[in-house]
Amino acid sequence: MGISSELLAFLSILVLVFAAAWADPLVPALIIFGDSVADAGNNNNLTTPIKANFPPYGRDFVTHRPTGRFCNGKLTTDFTALPFTAEYLGFTSYPPAYLSPEAEGQNLLTGVNFASAASGYLDYTPFLYNTLSLTWQLNYYRQYQNEVVSMVGSNNTSAIFSGAIHLLSAGTSDFIQNYYINPLLRIYSPDQFSNILIRSYSTFIQNLYALGARRIGVTNLPPIGCLPAAITMFGSGTNECVPRLNQDAIYFNNKLNSTSQDLKNRLPGLKLVVFNIFQPLLDMIMNPGDNGFFESRRACCGTGILETSVLCNSRSVGTCTNATGYVFWDGFHPSEAANEVLAGDLLQQGFDLIS
Ligand SMILES: *[C@@H]1O[C@H](CO)[C@@H](O)[C@H](O)[C@H]1NC(C)=O
Ligand SMILES: *[C@@H]1O[C@H](CO)[C@@H](O)[C@H](O)[C@H]1NC(C)=O
Ligand SMILES: *[C@@H]1O[C@H](CO)[C@@H](O)[C@H](O)[C@H]1NC(C)=O
Ligand SMILES: *[C@@H]1O[C@H](CO)[C@@H](O)[C@H](O)[C@H]1NC(C)=O
Ligand SMILES: *[C@@H]1O[C@H](CO)[C@@H](O)[C@H](O)[C@H]1NC(C)=O
Repeated sequence: MGISSELLAFLSILVLVFAAAWADPLVPALIIFGDSVADAGNNNNLTTPIKANFPPYGRDFVTHRPTGRFCNGKLTTDFTALPFTAEYLGFTSYPPAYLSPEAEGQNLLTGVNFASAASGYLDYTPFLYNTLSLTWQLNYYRQYQNEVVSMVGSNNTSAIFSGAIHLLSAGTSDFIQNYYINPLLRIYSPDQFSNILIRSYSTFIQNLYALGARRIGVTNLPPIGCLPAAITMFGSGTNECVPRLNQDAIYFNNKLNSTSQDLKNRLPGLKLVVFNIFQPLLDMIMNPGDNGFFESRRACCGTGILETSVLCNSRSVGTCTNATGYVFWDGFHPSEAANEVLAGDLLQQGFDLIS
């Protein structure tokens, strides 16, 4: 990132924060769907091995406690939530995980989080790990809308949901935790598999639109070939990003862009933004020093052979003491420091959603 785009990102954030603090509400609520990139604790309430509710997860979070977030600290969505909810509405918390005890009463009115680690565009992906598919997340969203109706009436509810920003993050688990390791899916080429995911994406957006959502942001696939776990599993002993996997992500991302454009053309009043996280994350990985990082291959926690099974836990050996210089916290997930950089990019790309 050059100086000028850094400055631009900074100014964008400043504008958002000031607008947030002093002007009329930008958006009434922030509602989150997707996978471990955005899960704020839903999997804590599920019977699944895919959890992050134990140390050292959360050690750098506000509370210094594990919350279920797959990170040492805040997620990208936590950083983006700040200007929208915490600052401007005067609440001090992030949209709560829908299955957590915090998701009740007034908290519901500013948004909730349905994301569940190991979820994906394909319902079959979370089925393998017993986590919440997007279909289930949408069922919960319907239930949630009814709860809001009973609190503020249907007119106010429509206003909340048409004004709310909806964020979706999915696709990584479909590839890494399903397609690449599941012989049953190898009948499809990566390209055919992408088409299946994209059809599911399109259906999801149309369903969300039918339920009143008008502002939706979706993240594209990160450079999945550079995730430390992917390098361990598919890198054939090298310590380099796996080009084949990154190429699959690029093809998927192209389809995501064109399908999103089609959806915007077809659905009147829909604001739909594809957030490009592929490029900023790849930049951090390839030129870590430009953003103040020194390590972009090895994860801070649970790296090495173990990361394919138990990821990272209190018994993991060699966990770094200071994750600030690491792009990756564990084998699959960026560190809080990297999430903060990504959030700056997202806010910059997200103006269309609030205009
Ligand atoms: C989730 O787990 C918490 C703590 O165990 C419990 O209090 C809560 O009722 C659970 N929520 C749901 C929706 O199951
Ligand atoms: C619904 O919105 C109106 C005006 O926007 C407000 O006066 C009213 O208090 C709201 N109703 C509830 C139940 O919050
Ligand atoms: C809801 O909005 C409609 C159309 O604007 C209006 O006719 C109706 O009276 C409103 N209902 C309530 C309960 O405010
Ligand atoms: C998709 O669109 C975004 C925003 O217009 C752009 O930044 C990105 O490069 C595009 N990505 C692909 C893979 O075409
Ligand atoms: C953690 O590392 C960063 C740079 O990587 C450094 O700026 C910071 O001071 C370190 N924090 C502690 C507590 O050592």
